[in-house]
Parts: sequence; C-alpha cells; structure tokens
Amino acid sequence: MNRTTKEQNEILTRVGPGTPMGELLRRYWWPVGFSDHLKDQPTFIRLLCEDLVLFRDGKGQPGVLGALCSHRRANLCLGYVEEQGLRCRYHGWLYDVNGKVLQTPGEPRESGLKENVHHLSYPVEELGGLIFTYLGPQPAPLLPRFHFLAGEGERDQVIQAFNNCNWLQCVENGMDPYHVSFLHGDVWRPMAIEPEKIIFEETEWGVVYKAIRPGRKEGEYNFRMHYIIMPGIASGGDNTVSTGEDNREAGDLPPVTCRWSVPIDDTHTMNLRVRFKPPKQRRLGVAQQLHIEPYKEYKESDTPTLGYRIPSAVFEEDATILDSLGPIADRENEHLSAIDEGVAMVRDMYVKQIEVVKAGGDPKGVIRDKRKNQLIVIGGSYKWISADERARLEQRTAS
Ligand code: FES
Ligand SMILES: [Fe+2]
Repeated sequence: MNRTTKEQNEILTRVGPGTPMGELLRRYWWPVGFSDHLKDQPTFIRLLCEDLVLFRDGKGQPGVLGALCSHRRANLCLGYVEEQGLRCRYHGWLYDVNGKVLQTPGEPRESGLKENVHHLSYPVEELGGLIFTYLGPQPAPLLPRFHFLAGEGERDQVIQAFNNCNWLQCVENGMDPYHVSFLHGDVWRPMAIEPEKIIFEETEWGVVYKAIRPGRKEGEYNFRMHYIIMPGIASGGDNTVSTGEDNREAGDLPPVTCRWSVPIDDTHTMNLRVRFKPPKQRRLGVAQQLHIEPYKEYKESDTPTLGYRIPSAVFEEDATILDSLGPIADRENEHLSAIDEGVAMVRDMYVKQIEVVKAGGDPKGVIRDKRKNQLIVIGGSYKWISADERARLEQRTAS
C-alpha cells in the first residue's frame, strides 16, 4: 500500500481557513454542542481553528459569532444574553444572531458605525439534540437528516472524549476493524477474536467495513458493520446499542452508535457520540484517557512501578491510544499492512473530495435537495449470524 508522504499528511491534517482540507470540511455542518446545555449564557468554542462563541438569544434562537468583539476584541463569551442577542461585557456592543450590530453605546447615532461593521456569524441549526453550525460559503447545504438524528426513537448524546490530537487519526480509527480485537478485546470479549473476513466498500456517503468473526458456538458468526460518513462520522452497530440478538421488527430503524470527530483545531478533537435506541440502563460519560509522557511514573511517585495501565473501557482505550500517535500522526513513517485498506480508502476519499471542492463542485455527502433529505437511513450492525446468513452476505457483497 502506498505510503502517505509528509506533504500529503500536511494536506490531510490541516483544517484552518484557506487550507485544502479546511476548505473541504467547511462544506459540511458540524455539531458544536447539545441543545439541552445551551441556556442563557454564551460559551467559548473553537471549530476548524476558528474561535467562536455559541449562545441562544432571549427568543430561543441559537447563534454562532466570531469570539472577539468587533469593538476592541473582548471575548464575547463573557457577555450577556438579551432578548435581541448578545451584549459584549466590555463596552456593551449588542449583536444579533446574524452578526448585525444593534447597539454601540456612546457612539453618536449619525456616525453610521454600527451600520458599517458586520460581525462574523455562521448559521446554526438544531437536530436530534445537537447544535450544528456551518462555516462554509453560502448558500449552506441542508443539514442531513440521518436517521440517528431525525428518526423516531430514543437517543442519547455524550461527549465521548476530548483528544489532544488531530481529527484524522480519530476518523481513521472508525475504519480500522482490527484494532477492536487488540485494543478492546479485554472488555469486549466477542471482539477479541481476529476477524476471519473483512470487506471494505465505498458508499454514497463514505466508506464501510463489514467484519465477520467466529461466534459463540460452532456455525455462528459475529457480523459487525461500521461506516465512515462524510465529513468524519463513524457509525455502526456495537455493544453499547445491541447485544447482538436481532429482535427488530421489519421496518425498524437500525440501532446504531455514531461518533463525530469534530476538529477543534489541528491538534485537538472533540469526539461526540449519539446512540440511537440505546439500552436505557447504560449511560456513557466523557472518557478519561491516560496521558503518557516520558518518565511520568517518577513525576508521580518516588517509588513507582514502571509502566502504564490503560483504562479498561472502550472509549478510554480509544482516547488513550489515539493521543499516543502524537498530536499529528507522522504518517510518512507508517508501514501500512493489508488490514489498513480501509484507512487508505478514507485518505483517498478525502483527497478526491478536496479536488472536487477545488473544481467548484459539491463533495460527497453534501445535499441540497429536500426530497433526498426526508430521512437518511444509515445501516450498521452488531449481530450474531448463522453460516447460511454469512454465505448470503458474502454472495451479496461479491455481486
Ligand atoms: S470590546 Fe466589546 S464593546 Fe468594547
Ligand atoms: Fe475503538
């Protein structure tokens, strides 16, 4: 498999304004918070290297503005929310959700200052309990109505982890069926066995893998299907939404768990998860990943036992290992193997879509047609199958 060069790695990982990947990722809506949590105070966020404030005006309308006040650059997250918008704490400039300056205290009305200033603002929409914003050129595409956001059924939303690393290594982790055996096998026993068969395919929305492992008894298999959806959502079945027993009625929407790897900046990522139809008793919280550093043990104890104990929980294992690749994985030093076909497909997909954007087109997964956006059902499975089902599945895939 071709090695990713240092130059290609730069292109794949940098997300600021004006960078090729930054321009591609700005063609999509990104989640930046949970609807329930945004009440009457503005908050400081960062997305794709841009410092922003998120707030909800007194009428309930959410807004995203450039973080620094257009007057003298105070951070607007310290301001007051009012009926009409957000007021800067420093000298009281008032902005609405569209960045219009409504008041500039002390300035003569006739100076025209507030009419001449337009503060940076981005569109905001809410769906499935999440708040999304869009940083790209107008007109904004539609916010995709994926079934896990818009379908009828229970869902819960959590921040899975804040990683001190680049977004792409988090996304690649979702197209990496082998890591599940070695990183998570201790706590997710059925996955401890290496897959017997893996199929990678390109889809309308991104890439999918289908992994078949030996099951609990002779003639039974575990089937796991996991997607990467543009711009960086991993979605599939797993043991936080399914026991593997398939007791769905015909026509039921698939229970899935999906993770957005949201680029905060080049070296920080918010991994945000929505579970669709989760079992009620299993709430999930923010992973406390293990931070590794040279001689850490001696910094923490005079008489340490050397070595690391990785936390035994799937999210914390992922968070810990992803940070261990370094702030931005040095892909030029990798040696990709046969198991990395999916990771290579993900990289190729992004590179192709960068070219589509450069040519003025809409990249994969951008939708503008309302009829296509009624409800987008994304599959994803974690289930036990028989030998017959396995044979049918492999046949379908081969055809
Ligand atoms: S810095 Fe915001 S009003 Fe002066
Ligand atoms: Fe994982």
